[in-house]
Amino acid sequence: MIVNFKAYREVDGAAAVELAKKCQQVSEETGACIAVCPPVVSLAAVAAAVDIPVLSQNVDPRAPGSATGWVTPSMVRSCGAIGTLINHSEHKVDAEVVGECVELSLGCDLTTVVCADTVDTAVSLARFTPDFIAVEPPELIGGDISVTTANPRIVESTVESVKDVNKAVRVLCGAGVKTGKDVAAAIDLGADGVLLASGVVKAKDQYAVLTDLVSAL
Ligand code: G3P
Repeated sequence: MIVNFKAYREVDGAAAVELAKKCQQVSEETGACIAVCPPVVSLAAVAAAVDIPVLSQNVDPRAPGSATGWVTPSMVRSCGAIGTLINHSEHKVDAEVVGECVELSLGCDLTTVVCADTVDTAVSLARFTPDFIAVEPPELIGGDISVTTANPRIVESTVESVKDVNKAVRVLCGAGVKTGKDVAAAIDLGADGVLLASGVVKAKDQYAVLTDLVSAL
């Protein structure tokens, strides 16, 4: 399970570290694999504070050097993150850029999670052999109805179609995932895990929600 902190006010500054620590606590208590995806500016602080996997929300297709303001895979790796999202619905890039980012990230030993908004996009991006494809229908992101309820077919189809094209790629799903029941449904539909955000970040009791979410894993 990957918890994307996005750019919510709830994770500004030191709050990102606090939420990552709660994720680590639940991971230790339950044995569930929980990765965190804090804002880029908090990556180093979060990576220094927890032992669970830390991912960047983005990388840019740039090598170290004259690249002012860009986030290079190399700097992400160097500050302790072990992976990165690429092409999140809220940070989309051209397919060609996805390919460059995957290649540069693999060269820096970063796990790659490429996001896709449709089955066709997922299949097309699977050719770059990221470690994971995460399918998320944009219209369900941030909502209260899980993709596994609103559009289970997109999860099943993405799993089937991506595996047909490239068996090495694992598939996650996300959008509206908020409960352990949603996670269980995702696994039943063939997904290898989930990518989620608001259900945890905006929860009154983040620890309780995290515990419920991983109860199915
Ligand atoms: O990256 C996860 C995301 O886009 C889904 O967000 O709030 O629907 O869990 P949310």
